[in-house]
Amino acid sequence: MNVLVNPLPAMSISLKTPEEIEKMRIAGRLAGEVLDYIEPFVKPGVTTAELDRLCHVYMVDVQGCIPAPLNYAPPGYAPFPKSICASINHQVCHGVPNERPLKKGDIVNLDITTIKDGYHGDSSRMYVVGEASILAKRLCTVTHECLWLGISKVRAGARLGDIGAAIQKHAETNGFSVVREFCGHGIGRNFHEEPQVLHYGKVGTGIELLAGMTFTIEPMINAGKAAISELPDGWTIITKDRSLSAQWEHTLLVTETGHEVLTLSHGAPPKPDFV
Ligand code: MF3
Ligand code: CO
Ligand code: CO
Repeated sequence: MNVLVNPLPAMSISLKTPEEIEKMRIAGRLAGEVLDYIEPFVKPGVTTAELDRLCHVYMVDVQGCIPAPLNYAPPGYAPFPKSICASINHQVCHGVPNERPLKKGDIVNLDITTIKDGYHGDSSRMYVVGEASILAKRLCTVTHECLWLGISKVRAGARLGDIGAAIQKHAETNGFSVVREFCGHGIGRNFHEEPQVLHYGKVGTGIELLAGMTFTIEPMINAGKAAISELPDGWTIITKDRSLSAQWEHTLLVTETGHEVLTLSHGAPPKPDFV
C-alpha cells in the first residue's frame, strides 16, 4: 500500500493472540492456494478479466472467502472494481483486470487478498506467459530473492530497517531499483494496518519487531528507474520510464525465534537456496 508521509500517531501495531494467529494461518494459506489454482490458466490469449472471474468464483464458492480488493476504498480512492490485482509488464501494482488478452512474453503479477473469519491473507506472485525475455525472467527471479532475503531478517528483536536494507542491497546490486511510494503493511482484521514495511532502508533503524506482529513484505522492483506514475483509472501504477516491474508478496508472523510465512501453499516457489 501507499507510504503515508505522516503515519497517524494514534494508530498502533497490534500483537495477535494465538486465536487470531490461527485464523491468519487459514486466511494466508487460502490466499496462497488461489495463486496455485490460477497458475495453469495464465496462458497466451487469456484476459486478466477472465483470471479475475476464475479467482473470484474460487474464493467465494470453493473457499468460502471474501475477496478483499472488491470495492476496497481507502481514503482518496474510488472503490477497486475487481476481486484481484493484475499488473502486467511495466505496471508496478494495483493493475485493474481488463479485457486485453495476455500475450507470449508478458510477465504478470497476480495479487490475492482473502478475508476468512474476519482475518486477511495477502500474497502475490509473478507469472511468465509462455516464454519471456532473459531480462524479464531475471527481474522476476531477483525480485523473488529480494522477498526472501527480507523474510530471512524477520525475528523478534530485529528492526524494520533490516528488512528494507536486505531488499534494497540485492535489487541494486543486480542493477535494478526499488519503488519507494508503496510498501508492505501490517495486516489482520484490517487489510492495511501499521507498521509500514519499506523495501529500502538502513540496518538497525526503524521499529523493533515483536513476536505476534503480522505484516506483509511485497517488494516492487523495476528494471529501470524507481519513479512511478498513476494511470487515469486512479489505481494502476506504472513505471515512469515504462521499464518492466516485478513484485512478490508473502504475509509473515514474527516469532521469538524467527518467523512463520503464513501464505505458503503447495505451489509456492520455495525459498531460494542461497538465502
Ligand atoms: N493487495 C495489495 C497489497 O498488497 C493491495 C491492493 S488494494 C486493491 O497491499 F484495492 F487494489 F485491491
Ligand atoms: Co499487501
Ligand atoms: Co497484496
